[in-house]
Amino acid sequence: MSELKTYTVWDPPTRLFHWINAICAVLLVVVGYLILNARTFEIPRTGSLKLKTVHTWIGYVFVVNLAIRIVWAFVGNRYARWRAILPGGRGYLSALGSYIRAFLSRRPEHYLGHNPLGRLSVTAMLLLIAVLAISGLVLAGTDLFYPPLGHWMAQWVAAPGLDPASLAPNSPAMYDKASFDSMRAFRKPFILAHLYAYYALLVIVSMHIVGAVVSEIREGGNSISATFTGRKILSENPADA
Ligand code: HEM
Repeated sequence: MSELKTYTVWDPPTRLFHWINAICAVLLVVVGYLILNARTFEIPRTGSLKLKTVHTWIGYVFVVNLAIRIVWAFVGNRYARWRAILPGGRGYLSALGSYIRAFLSRRPEHYLGHNPLGRLSVTAMLLLIAVLAISGLVLAGTDLFYPPLGHWMAQWVAAPGLDPASLAPNSPAMYDKASFDSMRAFRKPFILAHLYAYYALLVIVSMHIVGAVVSEIREGGNSISATFTGRKILSENPADA
């Protein structure tokens, strides 16, 4: 039997990001689903507004966590960096081909950081959560007059003579109709991006979870518990040691 070796892979900020992100994403999906189906569930307007407010506060945690991770990808350990996340770079395509062939022939290659296929899925997830974060921040401004753009949106739509700081959401009497309509036209692509990224995220996160479980079963490693401990235990020599 080959000897088992323990490697330190995921540093504490990377692990913290992963779990804060996962918890926020689940909460955002659940509350987002309720906002989307408020009519079906007969949620009154006030309830819907409360859901949007809760969703936005969870969203702020999600955005700050993502911003920290983006910075960490420049300064973290080698497995946390962009070079270990983004697909591409010298030898990437041949590593991807070799990983897929080895996986299909049931002699899987072992990686400490993300394997070449995993890099594609992690990059897609980061892109989608960035789209959700940016469009969500715009919607927080257009729908609730919340930061960072709420102050500007309120100035845009306030009825003549009204203090923009006093504007409340869902209060048409406080808005100048023409300005409000043009603000809603500006909002449209952001709500569409938010909605389509939500659907795409549901698909890709499901694939991410299935991929993690399948690769753990086939490769016999401990990649799932490593997201808590940071340590991987392998019997084979890793391809990226
Ligand atoms: C994993 C991340 C996220 C997911 C899956 C998600 C999902 C959703 C969904 C499904 C909706 C309902 C869309 C609709 O009514 O058509 C929604 C609405 C909303 N989201 Fe998010 N969201 C996320 C992140 C964020 C963030 C980071 C923010 C802001 C900080 C945010 C702010 C909003 C706001 C203000 C609305 C209400 C828009 C409306 O009036 O319908 N979201 N979100």
